[in-house]
Amino acid sequence: MSENSLPLVIANETVHYTPLYLVKSQDEAVLSELCGAYGAFLRSQGFKGKEGDFTLLPNDQGSVIGAVFCVPEKKGPLPYGALATLLPEGVWRLENRTGSEQFLNEAVLGFCLGRYHYRLGQKETSQSVKLCVPEAVDPQVVNLAKAAWLGRDLINTPANLLGPQELAHRAQQELESRGATVEVIRGDSLTQNYPCLAAVGAGSDRSSAVVVARWKAREGARRLSLVGKGVCFDTGGYDLKPSASMLKMKKDMGGAALMLSLTCALIDAKSDVDIELRLGCVENSVSGHAMRPGDVLPTRKGLYVEIGNTDAEGRLVLCDLLAEASESKPDILLDAATLTGAARVALGPDLPALFSNDDELADSLIKASEKAHDPLWRLPLWPDYDAWLESPIADCNNVSSRPMAGAITAALYLQRFIPEKQKWAHIDTYGWNDVGKMGRPAGGETLMLRGLFEAFK
Ligand code: BES
Ligand code: MN
Ligand code: ZN
Repeated sequence: MSENSLPLVIANETVHYTPLYLVKSQDEAVLSELCGAYGAFLRSQGFKGKEGDFTLLPNDQGSVIGAVFCVPEKKGPLPYGALATLLPEGVWRLENRTGSEQFLNEAVLGFCLGRYHYRLGQKETSQSVKLCVPEAVDPQVVNLAKAAWLGRDLINTPANLLGPQELAHRAQQELESRGATVEVIRGDSLTQNYPCLAAVGAGSDRSSAVVVARWKAREGARRLSLVGKGVCFDTGGYDLKPSASMLKMKKDMGGAALMLSLTCALIDAKSDVDIELRLGCVENSVSGHAMRPGDVLPTRKGLYVEIGNTDAEGRLVLCDLLAEASESKPDILLDAATLTGAARVALGPDLPALFSNDDELADSLIKASEKAHDPLWRLPLWPDYDAWLESPIADCNNVSSRPMAGAITAALYLQRFIPEKQKWAHIDTYGWNDVGKMGRPAGGETLMLRGLFEAFK
């Protein structure tokens, strides 16, 4: 595991800080005060004082004595990720000249998100760039950045270093250190309580684990139940994935990483909501103990599932956890999973798909995602397609009989395990940035962490 800590420092008299001024675009008064005699020169170099423009400030000897960044407005924290590559090595003290703390908070979050990297071994890390943060910064910004780094670290960790037990153990550590009660279920108890999940994990030499964590805000608080798909590696099982599709499958625990990091952020923020978290930690592998195409598996709910495709394992992991999570009738049940390639065909890598049996819940999640600039797109639980999951010999099949609407039929499969009155939302996410963008370095990504935090904080 890489030793990653946020690039933030607390003010300290012995360290030299260079000011980094946040300025509203085209704020000529502030810009000319900061740029002084060099205004015309800096403009000739391309610094126009527009949103996202950046310049270093020189003194008469040509040394760098500061920097200016013109804040992007109404775009959220990610555009500030540019600072992660624009700022030269050193410790920069944020000086907010915009008059609004929102820009300061966005800058700190965006910078932290942009500075993240995952490295193992002797591979060189980039130069050290740090921000010295003024007291006015919202502590929730730091919580969120920490949570995003945790989630990304888990997704980026290669599967040989992060198997089901390692994932469960790391979750237990993070949650217990925050005061949550954590139970890790393994062995016979796991097979009895989560028979379908256990069958998925049975193909691997690395045993499965279910993490159940509880955190209480107060007596009578609303109860949020979270479920995450933690497939540490997805070979596809006997329906083996082709190599190009298998290559990235260390990220198939992205749903678990998202739900764990969300829980950590909500606890750190002392949110007024009780949380129950379930992570299904398994490896979908091939062996003499692996489930076969055509097998029929029992589930916790009592339904029997025929295996049409061993690569549709995520829903087999989730169905037992969702059934158990529903038993205590939480106010909201929410799951996240890297569940289908079909959701990516429909929406691409940047837009997680949202499914919900409750319009109000769906609307509130979309509103929160818009507010956090962390987008999400709703797809329907189209009832007519549910019949595509029928099996001639069992209660249902784990895959659809028709090669269409794969994200919807996966969600409809999950819905069969949710009681009708249970408010439920399901997020089908990619969990990954194929190419690096501002605030989003290439690799593991906790898409919708900020959106969900906004919704439940
Ligand atoms: N983990 C994959 C889904 C996935 C693939 C997510 C690529 C993100 C990127 C999941 O377990 C899977 O293999 N789903 C199959 C389902 C199919 C067999 C019905 C898929 O989407 O191809
Ligand atoms: Mn799969
Ligand atoms: Zn999978």
